[in-house]
Amino acid sequence: MRGLKDKVVIITGAGAGIGKATALEFGLQGCKVVVVDRDEEAGLNVVKMIEERNGHAFYVKADVSNENDIKQMVEKSLKKYSKIDILVNNAGLFNNSGMNATVEEWNEVFKTNVLGPFLCAKYCLPSMKKNGSGSIVNVASISGLIAQENYLLYSTTKGALINMARCMALDLGKYNIRVNNICPGTVWTENNAYYIKKSHNLDKEGANLHPDFGGGNMLSRVAEPEEIARAIVFLASEDSSFITAENLIVDGGYIAK
Ligand SMILES: NC(=O)c1ccc[n+]([C@@H]2O[C@H](COP(=O)([O-])OP(=O)(O)OC[C@H]3O[C@@H](n4cnc5c(N)ncnc54)[C@H](O)[C@@H]3O)[C@@H](O)[C@H]2O)c1
Repeated sequence: MRGLKDKVVIITGAGAGIGKATALEFGLQGCKVVVVDRDEEAGLNVVKMIEERNGHAFYVKADVSNENDIKQMVEKSLKKYSKIDILVNNAGLFNNSGMNATVEEWNEVFKTNVLGPFLCAKYCLPSMKKNGSGSIVNVASISGLIAQENYLLYSTTKGALINMARCMALDLGKYNIRVNNICPGTVWTENNAYYIKKSHNLDKEGANLHPDFGGGNMLSRVAEPEEIARAIVFLASEDSSFITAENLIVDGGYIAK
């Protein structure tokens, strides 16, 4: 895709799932990739994979629910690569406690899914302003657009993230910084496979048929992480240069059905 060569991209939660696939895709596009994850082993493994494919990457250990971690994430990125062009706010926590969700759960999930992305953008902003351009992509969810049983805490955070991006896009447009959301449906990541097995006793074939997952969309299957990654990379690239404040729904037609 256009305009990505040598761009510096920070991806949070890049050690697994969608974030990992996105880091690998940016690496293939010639970007300098800052792999951020609270899981050090997972993050270092992704850096190794990018380097094995002749890409450039380095790992920063950070928990996006912690402001100091975010500050040092930005400082280390600038020390290594001198600028930040793209931020992918991907790290997120799922929750299906419904009406039983505790104050602790609300605080933890909100801090990770909403406050964290805000703070990451806030601390990346000075470098983007200096560059005269930037692209921020938030990994939200179709759960931020519809109601799903017992998802209320998770869905509330994703709904907040979606509208935060619109507000941010309005405030940052004058600096030539675009802010967009991606809204995936069910993606077959390792963690999701684990939860769907635990909650519904389904493997991938079963999830492809189940109406809550792949069976509920028009393509009758769950998504691969790479299918979300390519949409994120599109929103970060010059190929989407006039797109801002948008929610790109990548759900195989689930919510339109
Ligand atoms: N998998 C899906 O079906 C799906 C669907 C819609 C939206 N999403 C969203 O996509 C994003 C990624 O989901 P995934 O399924 O690929 O996740 P995942 O659980 O497979 O991987 C998440 C990664 O983020 C890291 N992480 C978690 N909390 C963190 C924190 N506070 N700070 C730093 N790193 C942290 C984990 O260590 C892990 O490596 C999330 O925001 C999620 O809500 C996922």
